[in-house]
Amino acid sequence: MEKKRVIIDTDPGIDDALAILLALASPELQLEALTVVSGNCDAVQGARNALGILELAGAGDIPVAQGMRIPLVQEALLAPETHGETGMGYASLPSPTREVVPQHAVDLLIEMIMAAPGEITLVAIGPLTNVAMAIRREPRVASAVKETIIMGGAIREWGNTTPLAEFNTYFDPHAAHIVYHSGMPITLVPLDVTYQAILTRADVDRLLTVESPISHFIADATRFYMEFHDEYQSIEGCVINDPLALALTFAPQLVDTKLLYVDVDIGCGVSMGKTFADFYRMWNKEPNMKVALGCRARDFIELFLQRIEDFCRAHPD
Ligand code: RIB
Ligand code: CA
Repeated sequence: MEKKRVIIDTDPGIDDALAILLALASPELQLEALTVVSGNCDAVQGARNALGILELAGAGDIPVAQGMRIPLVQEALLAPETHGETGMGYASLPSPTREVVPQHAVDLLIEMIMAAPGEITLVAIGPLTNVAMAIRREPRVASAVKETIIMGGAIREWGNTTPLAEFNTYFDPHAAHIVYHSGMPITLVPLDVTYQAILTRADVDRLLTVESPISHFIADATRFYMEFHDEYQSIEGCVINDPLALALTFAPQLVDTKLLYVDVDIGCGVSMGKTFADFYRMWNKEPNMKVALGCRARDFIELFLQRIEDFCRAHPD
């Protein structure tokens, strides 16, 4: 079976780390590169985290490129309260033994996508600053990418950063606007479905039955993330947004999607960063993306746990 070639654009971040591990644990995928953007933490720290996660998982040969540190227009709004000062919660990663690649993440995205038209699936699980810059620098990226799966937005769901806006979109709404209207084939994975993807303490205890530095890393990282969810949103467990988006590269049946015209508010008012869909086609505009609105959440969590358990068994030390 030919592997699906994937680049993950990421702001690692605890749930980003889980998405990267899921990609490495999935035989259907060939993870080609990680391109890092500021969001949960600054892109410099994020790149260190990405290198450390890959080395923890024995995948130290996968290139990591550092990208945009600040959004196109807004000030950078980092999220230490959610992901901790390092972005990895209470977990500590091995100090990376290698550096990021010399190319800027935007240039690496362009280079890899344009070198293989129709072959690269881009999974964007952070703010869209890198992706927007790539489109502006080389507009042909929008038609050369096979598909772009975006974790972001809140369509019928309330926001998680303002009452209306989701974090990745609020961090850089102008980048989201560029990407949403670029013509690239997009599947949007908003809070409407990711809020159903809750990892519980019992799930993490199950992973800990497999002795591995990876299961201990996940336990330490998600413990911080669960404390945040409990304190700020009274959620028992933690929302693993990014692994759900990543899982759609090999298990699209986990969600139900609808072709819709979606836009994002780039005004400076209270609804900045709010994403909205024209369900009743009032604007008579062609749909610009597939939007995941339904989710088989427990099937996803079970798939995630099985793959991570197997991956931990294969990496006992
Ligand atoms: O709103 C959730 C998203 O913002 C996730 O990608 C999380 O990692 C943060 O980047
Ligand atoms: Ca993220």
